[in-house]
Amino acid sequence: MPDRTTRVLAAVLFVVFGTIPPAMADPLVAFRVTDGGIAQPLTAQPGDPVHGRALVADPDHGGCLSCHAAPMPEEDFQGQVGPNLAGVGDRLGPAQLRLRLIDPKRINPTTVMPAFYRTEGLHRVAKAFEGKPILTAQEIEDVVAYLVSLH
Ligand code: HEC
Repeated sequence: MPDRTTRVLAAVLFVVFGTIPPAMADPLVAFRVTDGGIAQPLTAQPGDPVHGRALVADPDHGGCLSCHAAPMPEEDFQGQVGPNLAGVGDRLGPAQLRLRLIDPKRINPTTVMPAFYRTEGLHRVAKAFEGKPILTAQEIEDVVAYLVSLH
């Protein structure tokens, strides 16, 4: 977390210019890719699968249902672009799921799935997201915790 002065200044810049200079936004947590996955969780606090489920369904956060179906009978709209997430916890482990969310292009360079925890090298980023990942480190862990629970 940047100190209070930096955060206040960033908030003022955001109001005036509609963007936070990338250098002032929260730095991303460092991660290491090994064996097609990221074994180390991004946060010390374990992921919350209930919050992760809500993020997956929320069009303003994960927005996953625009491309994926998931075992959520209450959600009317479910996408067909990507694989159904039902049972994904049997197919992939937490390390592979973490990498898939953080930077799916490392798994498939031509994928249409967005990188949910990256700020560099992205195209057509909405102003409000400049310099910020789509999901926070804790939100990534919450979504991973939900996905590993899908059997
Ligand atoms: C723009 C469409 C799109 C969005 C949005 C999207 N995905 Fe994907 N996703 C895909 C596609 C397409 C694949 C198939 C593999 C590939 O393209 O590399 C995929 C693959 C996956 C896989 C691997 C599934 C498997 O069985 O191998 C997981 C897990 C996954 N996505 C989770 C998510 C989650 C969670 C979110 C939301 C935080 C999300 N995706 C958002 C398109 C999307």
